Amino acid sequence: MGSKISNTLLEHLSELLVRHTGLYFPRQRYGDLERMIATAAKDFGYADAQSFIRWLTSACITKRHIEILASHLTVGETYFFRDKASFDVLEEKILPELISIRKGQDQRLRIWSAGCSTGEEAYSIAMSVYKLIPTLKDWQITILATDINARCLLKASKGYFRPWSLRATPQSIKKKFFKETTPGCFQLSAQIRDMVSFSYLNLVEDLYPSVLNNTNALDIIFCRNVLMYLVPEKARQIIQNFSYCLVDKGWLLVSPNDQVSDLVPDFVMAKVAQTIVYRKESTPIGPPIAWTPTASDSPHLSEQVVSLHELTSTAVAVQPPAIPSPELLPSHDTPSSPSMHETTYQRALKLYEANNYKDAAELLHMAAQTGPDNSKVLALLARVYANEGKLDQALAWATKATASDTLNPVCHYLQAIILQEQGKMSEALLHLKKCLYLDHDFVLAHFALGNQAYRKDKTSQAKKHFDNAQSSLRKYNPEEVLLEAEGLTAQRLSEIITSLTTQD
Ligand SMILES: C[S@@+](CC[C@H](N)C(=O)[O-])C[C@H]1O[C@@H](n2cnc3c(N)ncnc32)[C@H](O)[C@@H]1O
Repeated sequence: MGSKISNTLLEHLSELLVRHTGLYFPRQRYGDLERMIATAAKDFGYADAQSFIRWLTSACITKRHIEILASHLTVGETYFFRDKASFDVLEEKILPELISIRKGQDQRLRIWSAGCSTGEEAYSIAMSVYKLIPTLKDWQITILATDINARCLLKASKGYFRPWSLRATPQSIKKKFFKETTPGCFQLSAQIRDMVSFSYLNLVEDLYPSVLNNTNALDIIFCRNVLMYLVPEKARQIIQNFSYCLVDKGWLLVSPNDQVSDLVPDFVMAKVAQTIVYRKESTPIGPPIAWTPTASDSPHLSEQVVSLHELTSTAVAVQPPAIPSPELLPSHDTPSSPSMHETTYQRALKLYEANNYKDAAELLHMAAQTGPDNSKVLALLARVYANEGKLDQALAWATKATASDTLNPVCHYLQAIILQEQGKMSEALLHLKKCLYLDHDFVLAHFALGNQAYRKDKTSQAKKHFDNAQSSLRKYNPEEVLLEAEGLTAQRLSEIITSLTTQD
């Protein structure tokens, strides 16, 4: 059977998909693309795929369109404890190390399953954390799971699975965490479900790291069997962003299929047992060393782990991190006059936006010590620390910022977001309310309140807050960037709220 759609049209479609989703359909896969797009066309109300592609390639694509397209074009294959070796590394090396460092200090762990599909990966991570931390209630655990496919996310959040998803799950775990509600349908226990929060995030178009979507200051990112479907330049950009999302020495786990070894300059690579893991290295000093022992070198994972530990203290990444251009570097002038103070702030802001937190902090400290009390400087310092995962310091600076400018809604909002990350929900709530008292149209505060309620399953309360956010959003021009939203536009937030409120 010959193709009904011309190659030129498929080429245009394929370019559009790369731009908005990163998904790669080379010529050899045009047959697949044609088949998949024919089913998507029906969802958009088109009887034939050809007119649908013509419309798509000339329309102004919204997030909702991408969501529907993605639900037809992505491969969602996944299962619990997929690639056992990765979970062995997680349970025997990565988590124990993190837990021992954080125990008795700030007891928190932040993990992201990026490209989570129907949730099996994120829930497997939750089960590993549950197994290793007996006193979970004393810890602040964040397991964020995101995907571009909203249908998958909906299924994930319901927590019902078929035996095929459990094909690699040990019997003891099945017994402990699953209940067969009807023949062939297994419900995951609430204690594990409640540990994971799902949200929509397009790795190619959405912003991260950001405190807004909880992608800042992460300890571990799982992004497995996702990058293999994307064009290399998008995969490279995603990995670069991941490095900004992770705290120093944070971990990135991909799958062998993803083939990213050329794309990870900010990471040190190591092979533990049969698994390649990457670790963010903040002080690269030379060419990469990949330590790749064979199984016979070291039969026990624990022995290899010791070597990985040695490796991570000596091995190095390929390129130095982004160095700011000379005009961004600190000047030797003391920022004492107000205009000098503002220039210093602007320099620090540029460094912050380039994810160069160390130099930004240095400048801001200088400005905070020598200049007049300036809530902008103090608030930016708080953000720098929040993005580095140093939440106590972030809160201290945010509190100073609020004290120096008590009528500034931005400071209250920032303080609320940091408190929220520390799990101090009722204190966060107070500051969100103060923020809205000072500016009723502070959209992100409505959004944050909506999210708090949504996570507690208080659906009608969440709806009220989201409705308030939507009505404030109508006062904006769709393309306008929202206050404190790090580049997020009014239209984009409105679409995010719509997809959240139409999932149930
Ligand atoms: C094969 S599944 C991987 C699931 C899980 N990580 C695993 O390894 O079992 C790939 C997932 O990547 C998601 N994906 C593809 N492109 C994406 C993008 N641009 N942003 C976010 N997720 C994306 C797909 O929707 C799909 O659910």
